[in-house]
Amino acid sequence: MPKVNFDILLDFIQTKAQPLIGVDISSSAVKLVELSQAPKNAGYVLERYVIEALPKDAFFDGNINNLDALAETMQRAWVRMGTKIKNISVALPSAAVITKKILLPAGMSDEDLEYQVESEANQYIPFALDEVNLDFQVIGLAPGNEEEIEVLLAASRKANVIDRVAAAQAAGLKVAVVDAEPYAAEMAFTQICAQLPEGAEDKCVALIDIGASVMNVNVMRNGQSIYTRDQQIGGEQLTLSIQSQFGLSAEQAEFAKRNGNLPDNYESDVLSPFRDNLVMEIARALQFFFTSSQYNEVDYIVLAGGSAVLPGLDDAVATRTQVSTMVANPFALMTLSSRVKPRQLQTDAPALIVACGLAMRRFDPS
Ligand SMILES: Nc1ncnc2c1ncn2[C@@H]1O[C@H](COP(=O)(O)OP(=O)(O)OP(=O)(O)O)[C@@H](O)[C@H]1O
Ligand SMILES: [Mg+2]
Repeated sequence: MPKVNFDILLDFIQTKAQPLIGVDISSSAVKLVELSQAPKNAGYVLERYVIEALPKDAFFDGNINNLDALAETMQRAWVRMGTKIKNISVALPSAAVITKKILLPAGMSDEDLEYQVESEANQYIPFALDEVNLDFQVIGLAPGNEEEIEVLLAASRKANVIDRVAAAQAAGLKVAVVDAEPYAAEMAFTQICAQLPEGAEDKCVALIDIGASVMNVNVMRNGQSIYTRDQQIGGEQLTLSIQSQFGLSAEQAEFAKRNGNLPDNYESDVLSPFRDNLVMEIARALQFFFTSSQYNEVDYIVLAGGSAVLPGLDDAVATRTQVSTMVANPFALMTLSSRVKPRQLQTDAPALIVACGLAMRRFDPS
């Protein structure tokens, strides 16, 4: 399971397991998750979580557009959370992170390894090295060659990191870990696989995250991503249809969508066509995976993201694909603190995959 921590933060690496909350800054909301560990290694406890909506202009085209609005939302979320912990882990979106697996000679000292990685990085990263935050992780011996090791390089332009650190600072918080979204998602995914028969060992599991504006398909096998693809489709489109069909403002439409209080023809005229289209795109995304890999089926589909809970979506996906389908809940095997409302969590959990993975970093510093 790759983990990265971009090098502004290297001094934290030595610190063992400091308290930390996971903060997922996504296009529609800031999502905070705090986990603790149950006594006697009895797994995780979900202490608290908050989802705080971001104003529409906070993000533009996948980039932070209004830093003040982001900082205010982060601060509001933190106050609502009612925690004392100010150290946070954040993630960069996959589009902002360049990753590359490289091979290096085995048996180098840490110092030599760092030097080698930096000089190799020059070849793969299209920016000057002083413009990027760089991190690497040794994955292990190269398959079939004991004289080499596989190393994962991860780099991001400093600007991507700086924006998030600045927003956190303005909100009175301190960024202790900068991860990459796909890795944070993979971390939380271990909790989901544990709910599948035999931990989904040697199975292909398609994690389909349907957010506000992007649908990400990520096929995982034994904890490793083997295929990933983003597509511009998400719940925002449904909100827009609700707005135009029923003459509502964006806020009203969003509220009505979540709470289901819409006219009778909503299901047939708005929800159903949107859902059909989504299901078709999911089936198509899986076809792309089949044609670009050695596999011609997936064993499980796990729906995630805020739009995963759309009524009837899981059944429609299962019927169309003939694949066993479930809605993600990374907290299903965790103990819930008395502050957490189980029914609300059921609805919110699919959107908290990245925040959950980031919160898990508290117990897994690297
Ligand atoms: N209970 C619900 N019923 C229907 N839709 C919901 C519900 N809760 C959230 N959504 C929708 O889910 C979307 C937000 O999901 P999520 O939080 O995963 O998005 P995001 O990560 O911010 O966006 P993106 O991944 O596209 O950047 C919104 O379109 C929202 O309307
Ligand atoms: Mg998202």
